[in-house]
Amino acid sequence: MSEQILSVNSAAIGFDDVEPLIEGVELRLREGEIVGLTGRSGIGKTTLIRTCAGLIPPLSGSISFAGAPLGDKARGEVGLIPQRLGLIQHQTVGYNVLMGALPRAKWYQSAFSLPSAEMRESTRNAVEAVGLQDKILTSVNSLSGGQQRRVAIARAMVQSPKLVLADECLGELDAETAKGIINLLRDLANDGTSILIVDHNPVRARTFCDRVLQLRGKRLVELGDEEQDATPALPVLRRPEQ
Ligand SMILES: Nc1ncnc2c1ncn2[C@@H]1O[C@H](COP(=O)(O)OP(=O)(O)O)[C@@H](O)[C@H]1O
Ligand SMILES: [Mg+2]
Repeated sequence: MSEQILSVNSAAIGFDDVEPLIEGVELRLREGEIVGLTGRSGIGKTTLIRTCAGLIPPLSGSISFAGAPLGDKARGEVGLIPQRLGLIQHQTVGYNVLMGALPRAKWYQSAFSLPSAEMRESTRNAVEAVGLQDKILTSVNSLSGGQQRRVAIARAMVQSPKLVLADECLGELDAETAKGIINLLRDLANDGTSILIVDHNPVRARTFCDRVLQLRGKRLVELGDEEQDATPALPVLRRPEQ
């Protein structure tokens, strides 16, 4: 049976004990699974993602990662693609992706900016995997929105994470670019990485996720097929033959 990577157990999520954003969260992710997370703006999707990344402590309950309590050790094994990508705009693609390898670097490599041959090699591989090998020495601020998202994905991939947390990494992309990114995520999942991805569009999420969860009120619920069909979706362009 595939390994359980992330397990959130009866957790309350948010910033205020008295008024949590989400209550009673039960969430399990298995190896190689892609799970979608939807819900209206401001409901707590980013907060949940950041909590799963270990950046915000749960108000109550517990979170475990690969069978152990989520802690500093997990940092190097969780690749976060934040909603605002957090790239260093004036630096090159290669530099930004290399930064993703740092949680695994030895202290002296970080302190003196001495990437190992292995870190440089995995940077090149990740940049190639997202199809930006020609741009490795290009400054991020001269790339398109879709290309910048690819850089953020490569930065998450470079550490060979067990879990990728992707916050709206498909937002405002044209259909073709979004498809390219979805294929990248699929490839990652086929290699065993678990992916939790926020997509405000539940119809699209269903096309590439194994399961889709929704934040509704203060609860995290799993959408069944019928329910997903009934969800009033944002206007979505469907190809007539599909
Ligand atoms: N650091 C913070 N401290 C207090 N409240 C916050 C903080 N970050 C976000 N919030 C609030 O938490 C709520 C959920 O935000 P967020 O998780 O970003 O929602 P979503 O990603 O679903 O749009 C919002 O009301 C937001 O203002
Ligand atoms: Mg958000």
